[in-house]
Amino acid sequence: MRWLIVVTVLASTTFTFLYGGFKLVSEVEVGVKGDGWIKLPEPRKRGEISVEEAIEKRRSIRDYLDKPIKIEHLSQILWAAQGITDPIRKFRSAPSAGATYPLEIYVVVGEVESLNPGVYHYNPYNHSLRLIKEGDYRYQLYKACVDQEWVLKAPASIVITAVYERTTSRYGERGIRYVHMEAGHVGQNIYLQATALGMGTVAVGAFYDEKVEEILNAKGRALYVFPLGYR
Ligand SMILES: Cc1cc2nc3c(=O)[nH]c(=O)nc-3n(C[C@H](O)[C@H](O)[C@H](O)COP(=O)(O)O)c2cc1C
Repeated sequence: MRWLIVVTVLASTTFTFLYGGFKLVSEVEVGVKGDGWIKLPEPRKRGEISVEEAIEKRRSIRDYLDKPIKIEHLSQILWAAQGITDPIRKFRSAPSAGATYPLEIYVVVGEVESLNPGVYHYNPYNHSLRLIKEGDYRYQLYKACVDQEWVLKAPASIVITAVYERTTSRYGERGIRYVHMEAGHVGQNIYLQATALGMGTVAVGAFYDEKVEEILNAKGRALYVFPLGYR
């Protein structure tokens, strides 16, 4: 009888460790905090492929598998876009003229594991998302992006907006070009990180600015849309 109890306890501990343990981690890491921020899983600092392979494999992908995005993967791409990589000086993954950081990152979520459909705003400082509005806005975003099908089909899209004054207040007119250069840096990080995760994206620059900004309740002007999905 005693051996039966020992075997049962061992089996249930192993099961909890293998399955229950994993569930617990994701529940804790994606939990909504009291202040309304949805904490994202910690990004990984080591990937499956080299930066050279990611550069070689990067392509604009406009066809995605019908599969929800894992929260770990969205977290990783947001970190690559604008995550804090120098916790002391609060510098980020992409360079910024005078560290003025004019860019804001939004996510239009349709199908992402652990997130309800909605429009979210990314906060690099606590690597979290805040829900701006609930609901699936992919159709509206697709219409705003002049009916580009990949925007409708992608499980989620990242949108980059710019608050120009953060940079032009220091650099004047020249700050405008700095902001656009910075969006390019962020866009390339999104492309390369997506590639490294077996995902695809495409830089979408053709859209009605005001319509995209209205969908986001945006801070700043819309610059770029990046639909995301598995390839
Ligand atoms: C500023 C910019 C705007 C773009 N806008 C769009 C767009 O609105 N729709 C689209 O499908 N692709 C868009 N693209 C993606 C280009 O079509 C793509 O990069 C080009 O065909 C080269 O292919 P590759 O990215 O696979 O190397 C854009 C790219 C850039 C850099």
